[in-house]
Amino acid sequence: MKALILSGGSGTRLRPITHTGAKQLVPVANKPILWYGIEAIVAAGVTEIGIIINPETGDEIRRKTGDGSRFGAQISYIVQDQPAGLAHAVKVAQPFLGDAPFVMYLGDNLVQSDLNGFINQFKTQQLDALTLLKAVENPSAFGVATVDSQGRVLQLVEKPKDPPSNLALVGVYLFSSAIHGAIDQIEPSPRGELEITDAIQKLIDLKNPVAAFRLEGWWLDTGKKDDLLEANQIVLDAFPNSTMLGTIQGDTRINGRVHVGKGSKIINSTIRGPVSIGENCHIENCFIGPYSSIANHVYLLEADLEHSVVLEKARIEGIHQRIVDSLIGERVTLKAAARRPKALRFMVGDDSTIELTGL
Ligand code: G1P
Repeated sequence: MKALILSGGSGTRLRPITHTGAKQLVPVANKPILWYGIEAIVAAGVTEIGIIINPETGDEIRRKTGDGSRFGAQISYIVQDQPAGLAHAVKVAQPFLGDAPFVMYLGDNLVQSDLNGFINQFKTQQLDALTLLKAVENPSAFGVATVDSQGRVLQLVEKPKDPPSNLALVGVYLFSSAIHGAIDQIEPSPRGELEITDAIQKLIDLKNPVAAFRLEGWWLDTGKKDDLLEANQIVLDAFPNSTMLGTIQGDTRINGRVHVGKGSKIINSTIRGPVSIGENCHIENCFIGPYSSIANHVYLLEADLEHSVVLEKARIEGIHQRIVDSLIGERVTLKAAARRPKALRFMVGDDSTIELTGL
C-alpha cells in the first residue's frame, strides 16, 4: 500500500496567513499540520508516500518536510501545476501510484484515530473505496454521504446546498487502482474541478464495492482560523508532559503542562499550560494562558495572551489587554503605545505591523 497526501491548494480561507506560505505548514502545537498526517500514515505501516504540491508553495513544503527520513518514510514530491481538483491530483500521481492500493490524505485535515482499523476494513472487505464519515453541523461545506444500515454508501454529493444527511466526507480515503478508471469517466464539477467525490460516486454507479467508516474521534479541517485554534487546543490537551529545554529567570511561574524549546528564555512571567513554546524565544513580563502555541524565535515583552497561536519571529510588545482567540502570522509586530482598548481580536497576516497608539 502507498499513500498520497494532497498538499496543494491555495488556502484562501486562511488568508492572509497563507498569502506567503502553505496552509499545510501552519503549525498546530508547533508542528506543521501536514506532519501529523505523515506520522499517522507511517504509524499504520505505510512508508511510500507521495506528496502533491503546487508550484507556489511546493518548494517550502519540500524544504521543510524533506525526503521522509525523519519520519521513517520515503517521500516523493509530485507537482500539480493547476488547482484542478482532488481527482485531478490523483491523475497526476498515477505514475507514482501505479496499480497499488493507496490511502489518500488531505494535508490540511487532522484526525484523532489511527488508520489501522480503517486499512483493515478496506483489505478484509476487498473494497475499491473506503471513505471516512463524520456527523457535522454544517454539511454543506463538505462532500456529503447517504449511507444504508450496513454502512454501504448509496450516494455522495459535493458541497450540496440541500444536504441529504449530516455525514461529511472526512479528507482521508482508501482506494484500489479502480479509482483511476473512475476518474477517467468524470467531468469537471460546476466549480471547474475534477472532484474525488464524483469519482467515488462513479464507482458506486458501476457497482464496485464502496463502504464508509464512521469516525468516532475528532476530525478537524484546519482550513479556517477557528478550526486551527480548535485543533491547537485539542492537540495541546493531549500533550503528555512538561519539558523544559530553555531557561527560566526572575519571578517566573509555570503551571500545568508546558513545553519550552531549546534556547528560549522566560523572564518574570507566568505560563499556564497547556502551552507549547518553541526554540529561541524571549518571553519577559508576560502572561501566557492555556491553549497557546508560540513558534520559534518569537519575542514577547509585556504581553498577555491565551488561546492563541503566534508564528515564527513575531514580536508582541507592551500590549496589556489580553490577546485571545488570535492567530498572529510570521514576522508580525504588535506594539502598543498606550493602554486603551479592553479586548483585541486579531487575524493578522505575515509581515504585518500593528501599532496601537493613544488618541
Ligand atoms: C474536500 C472534499 C470534500 C471533503 C473535504 C474534507 O473539500 O472535496 O468532499 O469533505 O475536502 O476536508 P475542499 O477542502 O476541497 O473544499
